[in-house]
Amino acid sequence: MYEQLGGHPAIQRLTTEFYRRVENDPDFKALYPESDLEPARRRLEMFLEQYFGGPTTYSKERGHPRLRMRHAPFTIDSWARDRWLTHMREALDCLELPPLQDGMIWGYFERAAHAMTNTPG
Ligand code: HEM
Repeated sequence: MYEQLGGHPAIQRLTTEFYRRVENDPDFKALYPESDLEPARRRLEMFLEQYFGGPTTYSKERGHPRLRMRHAPFTIDSWARDRWLTHMREALDCLELPPLQDGMIWGYFERAAHAMTNTPG
């Protein structure tokens, strides 16, 4: 899957495009604890590389992902989830993946974003 998506350059591009959009969305950016989003971008890049079968740097540096637990400190309601998904949809469009690969990664993002929602409303 990692190679099919385009390996490191593709995941670097995806996370860069995603966080560029977060940077330009002040209401959404307010959820992020650090004003410099580059460390967060790199954590997402390492996680996605590992999740899709690439290098396992994420777990070497951060341990077990436990993503739901790591998102617990943030108020993630349907508004935040939809902002996240909107920015990620646009970032994914930049990769111009074949429909099969695009559908697989997008299906994962939709499911994961719903799983990360921890606040009603
Ligand atoms: C549903 C909407 C979501 C919101 C509002 C959200 C928000 C956040 C915030 C505020 C952080 C802390 C930033 C930081 O690392 O300093 C974070 C971290 C992270 N998020 Fe999300 N997130 C969402 C969904 C997702 C999804 C769907 C994934 C994976 C597919 C994901 C993967 C990550 C990863 C890997 C980290 C870094 C974890 C760590 O090692 O500390 N997030 N997220």
